[in-house]
Amino acid sequence: MQNMKIKNKPETKLINKVCLVIGGNSDIAKEIAYKFAKDGYSIHLAGRSISEMERTAKDISNRFDVNSQVFSLDIEDNDSVNNFLNSYNQFPEIVIFAIGYLGNQKLAEESTVEANRIININFTYQIPIINYFANLMELQKSGNIIIISSVAGLRGRGTNYFYGASKSAMSAFASGLRQRLSLSNVFVMSVLPGFIITKMTQGIDAPKLFTGDVVKVAESIFSAFKRKKSVLITPFIYRILFLIINNLPEKLFIKLRK
Ligand SMILES: NC(=O)c1ccc[n+]([C@@H]2O[C@H](COP(=O)([O-])OP(=O)(O)OC[C@H]3O[C@@H](n4cnc5c(N)ncnc54)[C@H](OP(=O)(O)O)[C@@H]3O)[C@@H](O)[C@H]2O)c1
Repeated sequence: MQNMKIKNKPETKLINKVCLVIGGNSDIAKEIAYKFAKDGYSIHLAGRSISEMERTAKDISNRFDVNSQVFSLDIEDNDSVNNFLNSYNQFPEIVIFAIGYLGNQKLAEESTVEANRIININFTYQIPIINYFANLMELQKSGNIIIISSVAGLRGRGTNYFYGASKSAMSAFASGLRQRLSLSNVFVMSVLPGFIITKMTQGIDAPKLFTGDVVKVAESIFSAFKRKKSVLITPFIYRILFLIINNLPEKLFIKLRK
């Protein structure tokens, strides 16, 4: 990874009403992108599935009469990250970080490769990109960063603590970034979804009460963003659930193992 000493790129122009999605093919992020497009934002999608993002971009442009573009980005590939950051000469008003990898907990317990992959995709490899836009926005004294973390980061569970730990790190990072950038008029929002039906959770069952619908979740994220809510746990039922879980004594919590 090239050392990203970005203290602004002189050629970067201030553009309003652009929403850049890092992880442009994420089911949750796509739904949020439609909300911002309806609100008049141009949509930039960055991710690795170019043809799928192009389909989404075309649909967004047709439906909402806004400009939409796609950018190639694979965060596991240093060259791809450097190419993206060096070529993206724009200043979006909003950047959404939606890349995620659930991974295989059992495999991660035995394989450093899988363990690192979970930690790196959900946290480490996203940091240079967040830093880049954070520094740019800090210099411009305006902008918004939405970071999608997870309720899984609120308390580590035996069944998915590699993923949970990576999301916990991301939530702590977002919290610190929010405090730092609040001095520069830059808003940082943390989103902690519960279980939502998307590509990521395909084949996993959860009780209906605790299963979120991607469209409703996107609506809640968009509306909370408009209200400048710093931390959103969604769907609502997870606020109650984690109020209980976070207050359980460790001796009791440990007994909830599967
Ligand atoms: N669904 C849930 O229950 C849930 C709950 C809590 C938090 N979240 C979080 O919500 C966010 C969005 O997830 P989702 O539910 O919308 O799942 P999703 O549709 O599977 O989206 C995850 C995205 O991450 C992208 N990605 C993975 N590795 C990448 C890499 N190396 N480089 C670039 N992109 C990469 C995937 O790209 P491809 O499309 O190319 O595979 C995919 O578009 C994630 O951060 C996830 O952890 C989801």
